Formats: sequence, C-alpha cells, structure tokens
Amino acid sequence: MDTFVIQGGHRLTGSIAVSGSKNSALPILAVSIMTGEACRFGNIPVLRDIQTQVKILNTLGIETQWKGRDVFTQVKDTYNSTAPYELVKQMRAGVCVLGPLLAARGEATVSLPGGCVIGERPIDLHLRGLQALGAVITLEHGYIHAKAPKGGLKGAEIYLGGKFGSSVLATDNVMCAAAMAKGTTVIECAACEPEVVDLANCLISMGAKITGAGSPRITIQGVKKLTGAAWDVIPDRIETATFLIAGAITRSPITVTGTRPEHLLAVCDVLRQMGVTIERKGTVMKVVPGERPKASEVVTLPYPAFPTDCQAQTMALMAVADGTSTIVERIYPERFMAAAELKRMGAKISVANGQAIIQGVEKLSGAEVMASDLRASAALVIAGLAAEGETRISRVYHIDRGYERIEERLRKLGAKIQRASGADDPAAAAAAAAG
Ligand code: EPU
Repeated sequence: MDTFVIQGGHRLTGSIAVSGSKNSALPILAVSIMTGEACRFGNIPVLRDIQTQVKILNTLGIETQWKGRDVFTQVKDTYNSTAPYELVKQMRAGVCVLGPLLAARGEATVSLPGGCVIGERPIDLHLRGLQALGAVITLEHGYIHAKAPKGGLKGAEIYLGGKFGSSVLATDNVMCAAAMAKGTTVIECAACEPEVVDLANCLISMGAKITGAGSPRITIQGVKKLTGAAWDVIPDRIETATFLIAGAITRSPITVTGTRPEHLLAVCDVLRQMGVTIERKGTVMKVVPGERPKASEVVTLPYPAFPTDCQAQTMALMAVADGTSTIVERIYPERFMAAAELKRMGAKISVANGQAIIQGVEKLSGAEVMASDLRASAALVIAGLAAEGETRISRVYHIDRGYERIEERLRKLGAKIQRASGADDPAAAAAAAAG
C-alpha cells in the first residue's frame, strides 16, 4: 500500500487543469447499457472507481476500450445482467447500473452495496422509485433483483425525497429507468446536482425526452429506443474545490483551469467569508494569496448548498483559521473521519452529533496519519501541504479512487510530495472495499 510523504510549509504557484467529474462519469458510463449503438464518453478521469465501473460493464456484456481520456463502449451480449458483489463492494456507485439494466433488459441483479466508512448509505429511495415505475423488487442473498412487469415499466409521479433530502444516484437510476418506460414520469424532490444534469443531457443527446434536470422536478417522457452517445463529462467541481482550498491553506497563487465556476458558488461563498479571494474568468478560477483565513460556519446540504464532498477539505482550512469554526454535516452525520487524523497534526477539533467545532491553531505540524476515505484523504494532503515538517499519509489508495495522480499534479505547483510504494496490507485492502 502506497504512502504519501509531504514536506509541508511551502508556497505553491502555477496552474492546474481539472479532470473530468468522477461522479458524472460513473452513471454516464452506465448508459452504455441502454443502447445497441456504439458510444464514446470523453473527459473520463483515469481513476480506480472508474476502472471498477468499467469492469462492471464488462461483466454485463459491454465491450470497452480506452483511448486517452475517451472510453468507447459497445454492447456485445445481454446474457448476464448481474453486477457482482466482488465489484460493487469496491465501489457503491456500482448500484447506478440498476436503472439502465432495468430500462434496457427488463431485469437487473445488483449486489446490495451495504454501508461504508462515511455512514449507513441506504438505497431505499432507489428501490422505491423503481417500484413506482412497476418494477418488482426482491432482496435475496445480498442482491437486489429487479424485474419489469410484463408490459414493461410505466411512467409515474414519484416523490424521491428521504430524511436527508434528495438522492443523487437514486435520481439517476429512476431517470434512466423512466427514459425508456411507457408514458410520462415526474420525479419530485429530484437531486439538482450538476452531475444529474450532465447525465440528463447525455441521455437527451441519445434521444431521451427529459426536462427540468437541475430543478427539483424532472419530467421524463419515455421513448422506445436510445441512440449511441458522444458525450464529454463536466469538469470535477469537487476536485476544483480541493485545489482552491490547497491554494487557500498555503496562501498560494494557484490557478485552476478548465472548470465550471458556476458549480462552485457555495464553496466560493464560504471561502469568501473566510477571507479567501477567488477570482474567476470564464473557465478559470484563481486563489489570490491573502492573510490567515478567518473562522466560518458551514452546513452541508444538497446542491446548490455546500457539498458534503468538500467538507473534510474545508475542515483542514478551518483548522488553521483565526477563531472557532463550526461544521454541521447534514448529508452524512458520521462523515468526520478527517477530524481524528487532523488532530494528530495539532488541530483542535471536537465532534459530536453530526457537528464539528474547530478551534483554529496558528500552524499544524507534520505527523504520520492514515487516509480513511476519499475526501478525508484529500483533507490530509491539504493539511500536510501547510503543516510544518513531514507528513506521511498511509493508505493513499483512498485518494486514488477520486483524484488522478494528485501527487504529480501538485508537484508541478511546487509541492514537495512523493509517493512511496509500500508492501501489501490485507487489512487495508479490505478497508478499501468501503466507500
Ligand atoms: N439516502 C437515503 N436513501 C437512499 C439514498 C440516499 O436515505 O436510497 C440518503 C443518504 O444516506 C444521504 C443522502 O440521502 O444521507 C444523500 O445521498 P445520495 O444518495 O445523494 O448519495 P449518493 O448518490 O450515493 C453521491 C456521490 C457521493 C456524494 C453524495 C452526496 C456519486 C458516485 N457519489 O452519492 O460522492 O457524497 O452523492 O452529494 O455520485 C464522493 O465522491 O466522495 C462521494 C461520496
């Protein structure tokens, strides 16, 4: 298992190009199931989670080929409609083949994803939405079996809100299934995340009839067939935010290119409240080096509010801010794994009841820490860049799930970060199956 070794306390400078969005690419690759025609999906980040998704598609009879950042797909056979445990346990987003399989093949068997380190992560909304379209669902031996009724799926009015609000992948699954159902489907309390809009736009480019994506009400008029796709996924807003926060914590002039600033308004608002200036022009965002950041308050909520996927990175920044900050985590109340490791670096954080109180310190100090999930690992990298001395982050496979060669890209900005290859650790491999 690899380790990152960071010599912190150095200013960074320069420009970094953002990758395609992981969370857009995962469900978008799955729409390849829904057409007999060839597809090209572009701007696909080369990440462990994407490779897992490609393996799932391969087991479902889809031939795939990588050319640079493009993935070409073609359905070769429809014999197997089972997404197996060995793959879905590696990445919960494997569940997003459920809607496309049901739409195209009238049946799907997908391993129940289970919980993960960031919390319980139920899938009741996915199942409720598909049942409303007429799917018969049974749960057996750790698998979801979904079957369309004899006459096929039928459009319906579906309320898709849960106790934590909307669900991104449930909206994706129901939207895909409804795209080829008979009649009209209305999803109320749909997730509004840009990744949902990207999936909707990709489906529309394939002939689907979808309106309202990006708002809480999505209307889908089912069609019989979809054509192939040639679709480039949107830039990764979470990666963009991670780099901006890296610039803020090291007080460095970092420019992030190829991004969509309009997807980052809530993050920029919090950074502005913390005294961090972000300039934006077209698809470029730039951190202007300033004073020590000020304390702030963050509440994570569904888009367009502050994203849970930026919470840990922001906690790292708050750890060195002037004053006491608070974070209320309303999406995953247990998602505070970064806190304990940041405390090993001298941060003063207390966590209780879905809330973190962060008393800013002048400086963090390098330490040996352990990555526990994707975004917590990103927070540790950010903290390590600013800390005095050496930080060693073990189990960095977590960060490889969602950030492409992050150490090489940060090195180009002048960061002193190296990857050290370590021996295999079976316990860590098992833990990798979380997320
Ligand atoms: N929820 C339910 N029932 C469901 C589904 C979700 O109660 O059937 C709850 C969840 O427990 C959570 C809330 O609804 O409290 C929102 O979860 P959501 O379903 O939106 O999460 P997801 O679709 O499984 C995606 C991202 C996550 C991101 C969340 C929230 C992908 C592949 N994953 O997950 O990304 O945190 O939306 O924005 O798109 C990450 O990239 O690090 C990551 C975890």
